[in-house]
Amino acid sequence: MLKFEQKLRGNVALGVNPLGCKQDVLNQINYVKNNGTYEGPKKVLIIGASSSYGLATRISLAFGAGADTIGVSFEKGPKNERNLGTAGWYNNIAFRQAAEKEGLIAKNFVADAFSHETKQEVIDYIKQEFGGKVDLVVYSLASGVRKDPDTGETYHSAIKAIGEPVIGPHINMQTESFYTEKLEAASDEEIANTVKVMGGEDWQLWMEALKEADVLADGVLTTNYSYLGTELNHVYYGGGTLGRAKADCDEKAANIDALLADINGKAQMIVATAVTTKASSVIPFFPVYCIALYKVMSEQGTHETPIMHQERIYREMVYGDKPEFDKEGRLRPDNWEIDADTQAKTKELVLQLNETNFNSDLTAYDLFYKEFSNLSGFLVDNYVEEAITLDELKALEY
Ligand code: NAI
Repeated sequence: MLKFEQKLRGNVALGVNPLGCKQDVLNQINYVKNNGTYEGPKKVLIIGASSSYGLATRISLAFGAGADTIGVSFEKGPKNERNLGTAGWYNNIAFRQAAEKEGLIAKNFVADAFSHETKQEVIDYIKQEFGGKVDLVVYSLASGVRKDPDTGETYHSAIKAIGEPVIGPHINMQTESFYTEKLEAASDEEIANTVKVMGGEDWQLWMEALKEADVLADGVLTTNYSYLGTELNHVYYGGGTLGRAKADCDEKAANIDALLADINGKAQMIVATAVTTKASSVIPFFPVYCIALYKVMSEQGTHETPIMHQERIYREMVYGDKPEFDKEGRLRPDNWEIDADTQAKTKELVLQLNETNFNSDLTAYDLFYKEFSNLSGFLVDNYVEEAITLDELKALEY
C-alpha cells in the first residue's frame, strides 16, 4: 500500500495524495451541484484546466451548465513510489471520471499548450469528435517557462519588481517562519521575458488558430484571468513584471476582439480575486497579504476558494445578470477583495504581523495552509484513507 506524504520545499509542494486530489475534485463538484444548474455554454475549451482557476472553471461549467469540455494541461503521471507525479494529473482523471458518469464529454490533452502541435491536435479533435465548434474558450494558463513555437527559443518569467527593489515580509510554510525578503528590480530583458511567458501572445495564437480552422461558434466568448490587486501589493505585483504581463493580456484582448468581430465573438478579461494556488504561493510577499486578507474576508463572510469564485464569475456574472465591469471593459469579480473597508482592515493587520503572531489566530495562516495543502490532496474535507498500489495508480487513464 502506498504512503502519501506531504512534502514541501519552501512554499512548493513536492508530495501528492492522488486519492485526496480526487476527493477535492468531488468536493468542488458537490459545491456546484448544491447550487443547482444554470444556462451556459455547451462546448468549452479550457487551456490550463488541471488546477485551481482552470479546474474550478471546468467544474462549474460542466456540473452547473452541463458543458462538454476539453481540458489542456501540462502534468506528470506516476513513475515510482517516490515520484507519484503531479496533483493536476489526478485532478484530470477525477474530473473525467465524474463528468463521464453524468454523460458529459471530458477530453484531456496533457501536452504543451504553447506548441503549434497541441493546438492542431485540439483542433482536429474538435472537428472530428467534439461537434465541430466551441462556444467558450477559457485561457487559464500559469507557467514559468515558454518555448516559442516559431523560433524554438525558451523564455523564463521572473517575478520581480520594476524600477526599485522591494523589501517586505514573506513566509515559508516548510519551516513555518516569517522573514524579510528582498525582491530585486527586473532588467528590461526579464520584463520582456515575463511578458513573453505570462502575457497574452499565446492566447492570441490559440484564438487565431481556432478561428482559422473554423471551429469557433458564432458569438464565441473567450476569457482570460487577470489580477490587478491594490496599493498593498502594487510594488511587487501590479507594478512589477507580472503586472506588465497582465497589461499585455489586456492589449491582446483588444486584438482578439477585432479578430472575432465577424463572428460576433468577444474576448473578456476577468480580474479575479486572490486565491491560494501553486502560482500564488510562490509570489514573494503575496502569502502574507493573503493570510491577512483571508482573515478579514472570512470575518466578513466574503472569503472565496477558486470554486466559489468561478461559480460567482460564470453563474452570476458571465451567464447571469450580475456582471460588474470597469471602464476598461474588464469584468470585476475582485470587487469584494478591493472593497475599501476590506483593504483598510487588511492593511492594518499586515502592519501588525511579525514572526511570533503571523501563524496565530490573528491571521488566516491555518486556512491558507489548508487550502495550499488541498492543492496536493492533503487535509481535504471528507477524505477517507484507502489502500491503493502504484500499479493501480499507473493504470488510471487521463
Ligand atoms: P495554476 O498553476 O494552478 O494552473 C495553471 C494551469 O496551467 C495548470 O492546469 C497547468 O497544468 C497549466 N499549464 C502550465 N504550463 C502549461 C503548458 N506549457 N501547457 C499546458 N498547460 C500548462 O494557476 P492559477 O493560479 O490557477 O492561475 C491561472 C490564471 O489565473 C493565471 O493567469 C493567473 O495569473 C490568474 N490569476 C490567479 C490568481 C491567484 O491568486 N492565483 C488571481 C487572479 C488571476
